[in-house]
Amino acid sequence: MNQDDLKRAVARAAVELLVDDAVVGVGSGSTVDLFIDEFVRSGRRFAGAVSSSENSTKRLRGHGAVVLDLNDVVASGQPIPVHVDGADEIDPGLRMIKGGGGALTREKIVAAAAGRFVCIVDQSKCVDVLGNFALPIEVIPMARELVCRALREIGATPRVREGFVTDNGNLIVLAAGLSITDPVALETQINQWPGVVTNGLFARRPADLVLVATADGVETRRAR
Ligand code: 5RP
Repeated sequence: MNQDDLKRAVARAAVELLVDDAVVGVGSGSTVDLFIDEFVRSGRRFAGAVSSSENSTKRLRGHGAVVLDLNDVVASGQPIPVHVDGADEIDPGLRMIKGGGGALTREKIVAAAAGRFVCIVDQSKCVDVLGNFALPIEVIPMARELVCRALREIGATPRVREGFVTDNGNLIVLAAGLSITDPVALETQINQWPGVVTNGLFARRPADLVLVATADGVETRRAR
C-alpha cells in the first residue's frame, strides 16, 4: 500500500462515522480531499458541509455538495456532530500540529463549533512528542518581525512561508526546533502575542478520536 492508498482507506473509514442528515465539518489537506471524494460519492444523506478552506469548498462544490456558512449554521442552532480533519503530527493525547496547508485558523474555528473531532492520518503522522514538524502560525503581516523575535526568545527558529497568503489574507510563520512537552501551555502562550491570529497547536481542543491508516488496516485510537 502506498501513502495515497493509506489516505484513501482512512478517508473511507471516516465516512462510516458520519451522522445521517446532519451538517458535516470538513477540514483541509490531501487526506481530507480524499474524504470529500469518498463521502460525497458514498451517497450518505447530509444537510450540508461547513468548510475550513477555499480549497475544500471548491472540491465540495465540484462534487455538487452544499457548502453552508458557519455563521448561519451556528445562528440557526443546527449541530455539527462530526468534524473530519487531517493533521501534520498527532501525539498519544490526540493533541495535534496542524496547518501544513495554511488553513489552521478556519480549521480551528470549525473544530470549535463541532461536537466530535475525528482526525484522519496515516501512521507517519503519529509521534510521541509534537514539534518535529515546524509549527505553523498565522500572523498579521505588520507583526511578522515581532512574532519572529518572540519565537527566537523561546528557542524556535522562525521562517516565513514564502509566497503564501492565507485565505484570511495573512502570513504563515513556521517555527522549527520546538520540542513541545506542554502543548496546551505553548498554544496558549503564542496565541496571546499581538499579531498572532492563531497557531497550529490543537491541544486545548484535541481530537476526540483518531483513525490511523497502517499497512494492516485502519486503527481507531482514543486519548491515552
Ligand atoms: C491543513 C492541515 C492538514 O490537515 C494537514 O496539513 C495534513 O494534511 P495532509 O492530509 O495533506 O497530510 O492542517 O492546514
